[in-house]
Amino acid sequence: MGINILQKIQSFFRSDPSPQFIARQLRKPSGEFAETVAEKMNQVNKPLFDLTCQTLQINDNESILEIGFGSGKFFPRLFQQAEGVQINGIDHSEEMVQEARRKNENLIDSGQLQIIRANSNDIPFSDQSFDKVFCNMVIYFWDQPEDHLEEIHRVLKPGGKFYTGMRSTESMKVFPFVEYGFNLFGVSDWTTLLEENGFENIQTELQSDPEIQLDGKPLRMESICVVATKGGV
Ligand SMILES: C[S@@+](CC[C@H](N)C(=O)[O-])C[C@H]1O[C@@H](n2cnc3c(N)ncnc32)[C@H](O)[C@@H]1O
Repeated sequence: MGINILQKIQSFFRSDPSPQFIARQLRKPSGEFAETVAEKMNQVNKPLFDLTCQTLQINDNESILEIGFGSGKFFPRLFQQAEGVQINGIDHSEEMVQEARRKNENLIDSGQLQIIRANSNDIPFSDQSFDKVFCNMVIYFWDQPEDHLEEIHRVLKPGGKFYTGMRSTESMKVFPFVEYGFNLFGVSDWTTLLEENGFENIQTELQSDPEIQLDGKPLRMESICVVATKGGV
């Protein structure tokens, strides 16, 4: 990512609109700002997507669900790893659903990708539908994470895996907007929550992202992908 783009992202997040407004938009992009917010988040979050994508290790004919895909820019990359893969995406923002559908018309028309407006506390798929479920930068907005984890556990096949893409708490606290409605988790807290909700064999992948500039100071965010296996109930 070029430094000019990063500076634009930083200035967008630092100046108007307010941190409260940005926090609301990141939780559920809507209205005229939705497309810009999602695009900028996808730019900032590309290193995290890279980590999650690599950690997913998609195999031929797997069925995968992404929760909270934003603009859906990265869907095509999921099909590069294996053959016969079926991807489904849910996002509770109507604007993001429309944007992701626009960006991925060919994949949708070919039947490889399905995009649905839905909340992850009520996933519109039957039990044991997916080999893998993943989300990047979404758990912060789960006010009752147990409800979402129960649904993810339900739609995973036996032995299926859930991948949580997130940033370290230290990385997130740099942004003023996290004061407004973000539920930040460290790896230890998140691991405990996963274990309490039927997941086991928790493993963590860490990555130092490329350095960016924030308020004229260098900033290196840390990306994290937590892998959890569906255990018995
Ligand atoms: C901060 S953005 C992250 C977008 C993208 N995953 C990325 O890494 O750039 C959060 C996305 O998750 C969606 N989202 C938040 N909570 C959700 C929920 N409970 N169910 C479905 N989508 C949700 C939002 O609408 C938004 O598109």
